[in-house]
Amino acid sequence: MGKILITGGAGFIGSHVVRLFVNKYEQHHIYNLDKLTYAGNLENLKDIQEKHNYTFIRGDITNKDFIDELFETYKFDSVIHLAAESHVDRSISNPLEFVYTNVIGTVNLLNAAKTIWGCSKDKVTENKIFYHVSTDEVYGTLGDTGLFTEETAYDPHSPYSASKASSDHFVRAYHDTYNLPCVISNCSNNYGPNHFPEKLIPLCIYNIKNNKPLPIYGKGENVRDWLFVEDHARAIDAILHSGKIGSTYNIGGHNEWTNIDVIRLLCKIMDKKLCRVDGTNEQLITFVKDRAGHDLRYAIDSSKLQHELGWKPSLQFEEGLEKTVDWYLANEEWLKHVTSGEYQKFYEQQYVNR
Ligand code: NAD
Ligand code: DAU
Repeated sequence: MGKILITGGAGFIGSHVVRLFVNKYEQHHIYNLDKLTYAGNLENLKDIQEKHNYTFIRGDITNKDFIDELFETYKFDSVIHLAAESHVDRSISNPLEFVYTNVIGTVNLLNAAKTIWGCSKDKVTENKIFYHVSTDEVYGTLGDTGLFTEETAYDPHSPYSASKASSDHFVRAYHDTYNLPCVISNCSNNYGPNHFPEKLIPLCIYNIKNNKPLPIYGKGENVRDWLFVEDHARAIDAILHSGKIGSTYNIGGHNEWTNIDVIRLLCKIMDKKLCRVDGTNEQLITFVKDRAGHDLRYAIDSSKLQHELGWKPSLQFEEGLEKTVDWYLANEEWLKHVTSGEYQKFYEQQYVNR
């Protein structure tokens, strides 16, 4: 693997991937490239920031000249690309930001890797890999039955999922046109520590703690397939090392829950943790206007990954959710900083953004 570039490593999933790789692969060097948007927070990586095999670089993947120069300077061997605008609701109010980062940013990285690795159709590039981290949302929505497989046709509904679908198409196009050694994974909903409190689970943990309403879109009947974030990081490790170039792998938890049931379970766990009378937190549940274009159900068939690479989820949801709640209750400072935006003011003084 040699020099590994991880983009978006200061975000939720990226920080767990960076930590796993820095600790596991001491002989390789991990470069974390992140713009530090509102979702990027170096506090997520405090425990590994001094490691000899880790370097943080602040920069924007939409800046083509900067990206070209970066690849020219470091000559990365592997790229794990996670940097993205990731929140569906934000994509509904500001779609263009998602096109810039998720589509143009991805193409800038593909171009830089192609150039530095000298890829072309008549040549096989050995020992290099461009790993694109994508989402199950590109497949659209399911009815009451069925699962997304790697063969499911793309049918994105939100500006976020349309931008991720577009980036996936570019990755495949670079593989087919220039022989760029690529692999893609499409994962279901992650949960766990360091999740930004705009997403359903961390938002509700924060609101329960502060006795605020828990906003449930529509009737709370939408279904998501939840996976503990460290299991996603392990899957990325397995695919990077043993995945077939040119392939796609679905990653999921086999763990479908309606939103209302997730929040009821969370309320129950937090009644206990906060020593509140059973049923107290459920009274905070508030049904609000539905999300526009809200996909009804996501559910992943990850049998290809399980059979080919031997990966499987390690945690039951109840156990993972309790672990997540414990982390948030033990990390009040982190929550305070991200909800006040304090960390961003610090980064503006500390790092030049390119
Ligand atoms: P996140 O929003 O927590 O983190 C994204 C990171 O990317 C942040 O650190 C941010 O600063 C950085 N970033 C954003 N724009 C950038 C730019 N222009 N240049 C450089 N860095 C930039 O997202 P996440 O939830 O950790 O998701 C990571 C990846 O995994 C995304 O590609 C997302 O589509 C995908 N994914 C997420 C989930 C999920 O449940 N969260 C599930 C499947 C796939
Ligand atoms: O499926 C993978 C995707 O999961 C990732 O690609 C995205 O980056 C990630 O954000 C996530 O998307 P969702 O839209 O599914 O996650 P979110 O936490 O925003 O919402 C989960 C469900 O809860 C969804 O059905 C919408 C609903 N919801 C969300 C919020 C923020 C609510 O009911 N109330 C809320 O306040």
